[in-house]
Amino acid sequence: MLTGKKIVLGITGSIAAYKACLIIRELVRKGAEVQVVITPSGKEFITPVTLATLSQHPVISDFFAQRDGTWHSHVALGLWADAMLIAPCTASTLGKMANGIADNMLITTYLSMKAPVFIAPAMDLDMLAHPVTQQNLERLRSLGNRIIAPGNGFLASGLEGKGRMQSRKPSLRV
Ligand SMILES: Cc1cc2nc3c(=O)[nH]c(=O)nc-3n(C[C@H](O)[C@H](O)[C@H](O)COP(=O)(O)O)c2cc1C
Repeated sequence: MLTGKKIVLGITGSIAAYKACLIIRELVRKGAEVQVVITPSGKEFITPVTLATLSQHPVISDFFAQRDGTWHSHVALGLWADAMLIAPCTASTLGKMANGIADNMLITTYLSMKAPVFIAPAMDLDMLAHPVTQQNLERLRSLGNRIIAPGNGFLASGLEGKGRMQSRKPSLRV
């Protein structure tokens, strides 16, 4: 069970972002405390209001919450969490993670993370099959991240193939 476990849920700009709502509900139902960190692009796909309501915590997206000098600490999040799950994870975020391009709150949190990191990629089949994406995935795997392999099936583009975010419930052993 996940009772009392602290989970950082990273959400990125994928059409699969709506599935994050179901993940949050499941994690909260199992007793976990969930802190959502969403990329600026992710907010185009799902609203912070929905995510904050489901997770029972304000959503973090920007470094600076207000213009009064206060800021969100990715370092504190990295120390707070028992696990980080990035679901859905775009090709762009995979690339940034694999190369340490820390230009948003989600990536800085990832780079600060002391706990196990689980990554659930979601993208169109050709983006997933591209050698750059495959290299990024391999690099992240070799660095100890757990990749939740995408599944086969009907994709949002209308195409069919591999790239769907895995729909079975994530088993976070933390
Ligand atoms: C309608 C739409 C759906 C998209 N879905 C995906 C997706 O499932 N996976 C992906 O890697 N990129 C997808 N993209 C592209 C990303 O949104 C884009 O690369 C963005 O910069 C990702 O930013 P982020 O990784 O910082 O959230 C989509 C773009 C659009 C317009």
